[in-house]
Amino acid sequence: MMERHRFHSICPYFAMFPEAFVRRNVLAWSKRDDVVLDPFSGRGTTIFESLVNGRVAIGCDTNPVAACLSKAKADPPKLKSVMVRLAELEKQSIRFKSKAPETKDEFFSYCFHEETLRQLLFLMKRLEWRTSNVDCFIAALALGCLHGESHRTEACFSNRMPRTISTKPAYSVRWWQKNECLPPKRDVFAILNTAAQYRYVSPLPSLKGKVVEGDVRKASSMLRSYKEKVKLVITSPPYLDITDYHEDQWLRLWFLGGPMKPISGQGKDDRHRIVEGYWQFLSEAWQGVAPLLQDSAQVVIRIGGTRLGADELRAGLLASLDSTGYRFKLQEYKQSDIKNGQKRIFSSGPSKAGTEHDFRFQMA
Ligand SMILES: C[S@@+](CC[C@H](N)C(=O)[O-])C[C@H]1O[C@@H](n2cnc3c(N)ncnc32)[C@H](O)[C@@H]1O
Repeated sequence: MMERHRFHSICPYFAMFPEAFVRRNVLAWSKRDDVVLDPFSGRGTTIFESLVNGRVAIGCDTNPVAACLSKAKADPPKLKSVMVRLAELEKQSIRFKSKAPETKDEFFSYCFHEETLRQLLFLMKRLEWRTSNVDCFIAALALGCLHGESHRTEACFSNRMPRTISTKPAYSVRWWQKNECLPPKRDVFAILNTAAQYRYVSPLPSLKGKVVEGDVRKASSMLRSYKEKVKLVITSPPYLDITDYHEDQWLRLWFLGGPMKPISGQGKDDRHRIVEGYWQFLSEAWQGVAPLLQDSAQVVIRIGGTRLGADELRAGLLASLDSTGYRFKLQEYKQSDIKNGQKRIFSSGPSKAGTEHDFRFQMA
């Protein structure tokens, strides 16, 4: 069996799909050098697995965490550049003092040791993750180490917290107080050095991809040089009613320059509670994507949701795809059970919630 590429697990992400799902579809429905698109790229699994298999990969996502992770995988620097930059940053960080409000905040004082927080605040100031691929890669590594089960691993910066989601400040502080958990003293640069070396054991793909931070509805203008070039879409849109990606990832968003507390409803991630609004959004999404598709392009969609069953999803997806003015035909449908790690995201939903649906459509 092929060894898992170590870039895939840089950082977990909500409702992420496994690389095996992507690989199966990439190998079945595209050839080398074909263009593969994920307009809801998340942690960049479609992007990276396509590159690993010799396909050109493009994508977009509105969430800065998703954009950072996907961009890091689409255009990774050489390990040497990462190590040189880390050494330079570490040297500069020694004299850094911060008066940021986080240094006096109860949550941050419990979450990170004073010295760890100082190093993180320095990195937040210095990393130009939106414009430099080296800094973007370092930021992606830092996102993956930012919080986790620090009683089990030395490779994370925070006090005990799940690695998948950031828990809310008041709840976290209460939990840490009750369980007498103090933040571990962690050297951010030592952890990032080790993380970089660990990730780069797997070889880099020879192709680079292109990912933009932006709204799917503008995909055809953001990625205009790929007009009519996309052979295959492999994607997973936000699910109806499932989660607010911004609220649940607030600490990673903070690290990338966001507010120092979760603010619900902040994200532009179109969580819809009303079914009609959801399909309207997906119609607009496919309209943003359609000009990029070549004739006979295939569109593979993994989708779930607590309220929509297979028939509603099939009808809604077909109608929203057809709203582009092109005709799509359903070629394949499969159901899959949500794996344990992702299950609790759906735990508030009714029984349908444990299932995801895989559809493959082809442009007629
Ligand atoms: C189900 S997740 C995708 C997960 C991805 N397949 C993975 O494996 O990581 C849906 C993604 O859609 C993104 N999203 C939501 N609204 C969007 C929009 N209007 N334009 C682009 N991306 C959007 C969310 O930020 C989220 O990353």
